[in-house]
Amino acid sequence: MKAFQALLPPRTFFGKGSFFRIFEALPLKNRAVLVLTGKSSVLLSRQWQWFQEETGRRGLNLSTYRVSGEPTSELIDKIVAECASKQWDAVIGIGGGSVLDTGKAVSAMLYKLESVHTYLEGFPDSQPHDGSKVFYVACPTTTGTGSEATKNAVIRTTHPARYKRSLRHDRLVPDLAIVDPELSLSCPKDVLIATGLDAFTQLLESYTSSNASTLTDLLALEGLRHCSILVDAVNHLEDLDLKIQMAYAAYLSGITLTNAGLGIVHGLAGILGGMYDSPHGALCAALLAPAVRKNIRKLEKSGDRDTLRKYEQVGAFFRPSDLCATLGTWQRAFPIKTLRQLNVAKDQFSWIAQQRPNKNNPVPLDPEEILEILEESYG
Ligand SMILES: [Fe+2]
Repeated sequence: MKAFQALLPPRTFFGKGSFFRIFEALPLKNRAVLVLTGKSSVLLSRQWQWFQEETGRRGLNLSTYRVSGEPTSELIDKIVAECASKQWDAVIGIGGGSVLDTGKAVSAMLYKLESVHTYLEGFPDSQPHDGSKVFYVACPTTTGTGSEATKNAVIRTTHPARYKRSLRHDRLVPDLAIVDPELSLSCPKDVLIATGLDAFTQLLESYTSSNASTLTDLLALEGLRHCSILVDAVNHLEDLDLKIQMAYAAYLSGITLTNAGLGIVHGLAGILGGMYDSPHGALCAALLAPAVRKNIRKLEKSGDRDTLRKYEQVGAFFRPSDLCATLGTWQRAFPIKTLRQLNVAKDQFSWIAQQRPNKNNPVPLDPEEILEILEESYG
């Protein structure tokens, strides 16, 4: 067996009703908690009503910050500037991937004096973050990004140009992940499609990653098996059992992407997501089928039977028992938007293809092949 190292979430409460266990794990010394939520129906939920009453009953100082849109460096700096004077016991993010990443970044910046931009990866003057943070609880309300189990927060920055970059450290994995599928019952259909396809893509890319291990293979395959109900989950939004399966798949995808890395779809979605306002899940969905076809063709040429078998195994979870046919079915069933429909312009494709977005793709693709994926995804 190949040697590996693993970074796993320190503590997780998973399942129906698990949100109501939150006080079992909160360290309460200064008796102050900071909650970040989206502009979502969470604030009308019985879980939120209970949480407010319970914090009052326990004499806790509760501050709530509502955020919308993807996290920007300006937003993180603003929240930190407004909140840094208090001693917080915990930061709690309740929302979709953007809210969870905002909370993760805020918890990591409350002890810092600099802008979060200082610590974003990939700039010539970037500084590494040391991992110090306020105890962070991540409670997803969409079944997609897996942020509750990852060590990075994706932040949009406009300096020196529009980019999405990560704030990353092993210790930034949330101290507590609460995956209560009841929190995602009000998730709208379009969000479920985009986030579900993101989770599927993360699992598939980490399962076929050049950095995959025995452990990530086990977890990714289990997550992919649960994704076989994605179409049913989209068609039966009130079905809690189906939500539980997608929430489990999304949670596993966070663990596998943290440990195995991702491939060409996320490499390209990361660049495009920095340039355009299109949702991350929608970009992944547009790129997925052309990228899988390209990878399979190249693996057939190189004779990599082991990785080809992985694609076949995933295909066998669906009807028809073929991954490319299933992706074609999804394209029509959901439907999945093309890059053109997502208002992505073609004129930057050659530049994007030169940016080495291969990540841990199972097979390295040259700029010409990457350009073909982009053009096919454009429609
Ligand atoms: Fe993703």
